[in-house]
Amino acid sequence: MKRRDFFKASAIGLTIPSTIIKGQKINISKNNPVILSTWNFGLNANIEALKELKNGGNAMDAAEKGAMHAESDVENTSVGFGGLPDEKGKVTLDACVMDRSGNAGSVAFLQNIKHPVSVARKVMEETKHVMLVGEGANQFAIKNGFKEKKLLTKKSKNEWKKWLQNRREMTPHETHDTLSILVQDKKGDLAGACTTSGWAYKMHGRVGDSPIIGAGLFLDNEVGSAAATGLGEEVLKTTGSFLVVELMRQGRSPQEACEEALKRVIKRHNGNPDFQIGYIALRKDGEIGSACLKWSFEYALAKNGSNKLYKINGLIQS
Ligand code: GLY
Repeated sequence: MKRRDFFKASAIGLTIPSTIIKGQKINISKNNPVILSTWNFGLNANIEALKELKNGGNAMDAAEKGAMHAESDVENTSVGFGGLPDEKGKVTLDACVMDRSGNAGSVAFLQNIKHPVSVARKVMEETKHVMLVGEGANQFAIKNGFKEKKLLTKKSKNEWKKWLQNRREMTPHETHDTLSILVQDKKGDLAGACTTSGWAYKMHGRVGDSPIIGAGLFLDNEVGSAAATGLGEEVLKTTGSFLVVELMRQGRSPQEACEEALKRVIKRHNGNPDFQIGYIALRKDGEIGSACLKWSFEYALAKNGSNKLYKINGLIQS
């Protein structure tokens, strides 16, 4: 805004709210919701999130609804119902949420509950804790009215049986991956959610980055939000989403922050990692960024009345 316009706006009470990031004034995006999510299944998640915002929900309500859509989608074999199981044929789910106040909730190794994201939100809102796992998370869910459901579909069971014949190691990249969703509502507030059935045919008991605050998801309502998809083990080792948000706090753009977080992984793997990680980032002014290590990655962006899928190429080409 020009100096003259700024004074004019101030005089009629329209001063644009702003935040200072590393000495730089960033105008907070308001009245123009932004929804950013991972992979092509993010498009439908964005639609559900937008509906929720239109119905008066806030960023957290919208992020939860978006994630729930992916969890219900039986065709999606890396999230929720229909997700591929672990090596023992068990579908074990990880999810987390964060809201504008920096509150967080998470569940890991949760079985037989269709909407781990909603259980994670309940952990955040109804308990003193951040994270519940396994049997304890399941009991908490049932106590809070969630119904038990068999999550292994016929199709996933058949896939697992085929896999048992040679037990070939899958990568999260092959099985697609996490639904991570970042929302900025019309008040300019941020929230996010992350949900997955994890690495297909993983070891029984394995938990990835998705339920870990700072790894799969992180936000600071004064700066921005970030979320991950891809090989959870490597996101965990670099506290990826926290790093992206901290880099934005230090003045990097969302794009630069995603790329820098990945460059550190590339360096750790001598320039040639053989796995995938993708990041999405949303800054407080509504600007977004996204980058992936290798191959390609898709993110869905709903902004200014459109909801589109964008394909990006990896930082390193093999
Ligand atoms: N990023 C999902 C996982 O590794 O479980």
